[in-house]
Amino acid sequence: MSSITRRTALAAGASLLAPAWAQTASPTPAKPLVIKFSHVVAPETPKGKGALRFKELMEIRSGGRVKVEVYPNSTLFKDKDEIAALKRGEVQLLAPSLSKLRPLGVKEFEVFDLPFLFKNRNAFTDTAQSYGRTLFTKLEPSGVRGLAFWDNGFLLMSANRRLRDVDDFKGLKMRIQPSAVAEAEMHALGAEPRVMNFSELFTGLQAGSVDGTEGTASNFLTQRLPEVQKHLTLSNHGYLAYALLVNRAFHDSLPADLRAVFDSAVADATQYANAIANTENAWALGKIKTSARVALYAPLAAELDEWRRALMGVHQDVATRVGAAALQAAYQAAGFVPPR
Ligand code: SIN
Repeated sequence: MSSITRRTALAAGASLLAPAWAQTASPTPAKPLVIKFSHVVAPETPKGKGALRFKELMEIRSGGRVKVEVYPNSTLFKDKDEIAALKRGEVQLLAPSLSKLRPLGVKEFEVFDLPFLFKNRNAFTDTAQSYGRTLFTKLEPSGVRGLAFWDNGFLLMSANRRLRDVDDFKGLKMRIQPSAVAEAEMHALGAEPRVMNFSELFTGLQAGSVDGTEGTASNFLTQRLPEVQKHLTLSNHGYLAYALLVNRAFHDSLPADLRAVFDSAVADATQYANAIANTENAWALGKIKTSARVALYAPLAAELDEWRRALMGVHQDVATRVGAAALQAAYQAAGFVPPR
């Protein structure tokens, strides 16, 4: 067993054993049903491992009636195209970040991108399970069903200069996800936001079309960013998480026994992905640290207060788009009290 596999197996404490009812599934048909699960990150990330766990559970519990094809690293669809592909049924499962849901037209998801909204991981989970779940119902008319929230972790900021004070961002071209909040955030810091597919991030940084980015330690390491970024600030200023989405017509078309297997595989893969996210990011940060290629900077509380002051206007911005009531509901779920 590799050290990564052993590490995550221990962290998740999960079992592959099928529930008793799954062991009596109907005989294997000649041609298995194929489920395509496309995502943009590396297989050895929390999301990548969650997708593989889903595949394992689904294939075992369906007794071979279903084959799950997992396409990591944007090999099937890039950020920009994956939601349209899901709606067309060219792929059945996706787990885009909450920052990439704009094409689905439920703008209230924007609040998940707000800077400094979540004081810890539990605050994110509480918000996802209450406020977030209500948003899933709004996705249904678009032909997409929200199944679960998958965790990654807190966002860090990187560049080839140390990012300590707000002034340090001045003039930097920062790669962002396609999020109105991230865009406003970079403007508020004095940087120039550039939306770019995740699959183009490494080459964008290498070629200098962008100078820096924000992301989790796990994504930073697995995208080989230590080769192209010299500084990483442990700012924890935002949160990266995913919505596990299924094509609704496909989900509805599953026969009852397979639907039960599918839903149980989703539930257990979700539990697994969320259980390993923290450990994976801590491990990745340790690797980045010991590689000594990247200078890590842990900002002081006073420095983060300066970031916070610069970024609070972004919260007001969001209120104008999603409405004050939605913003308040998210604040309440997160236990966030805006500074006066
Ligand atoms: C992901 O974790 O799915 C990618 C996030 C990003 O585009 O930065």
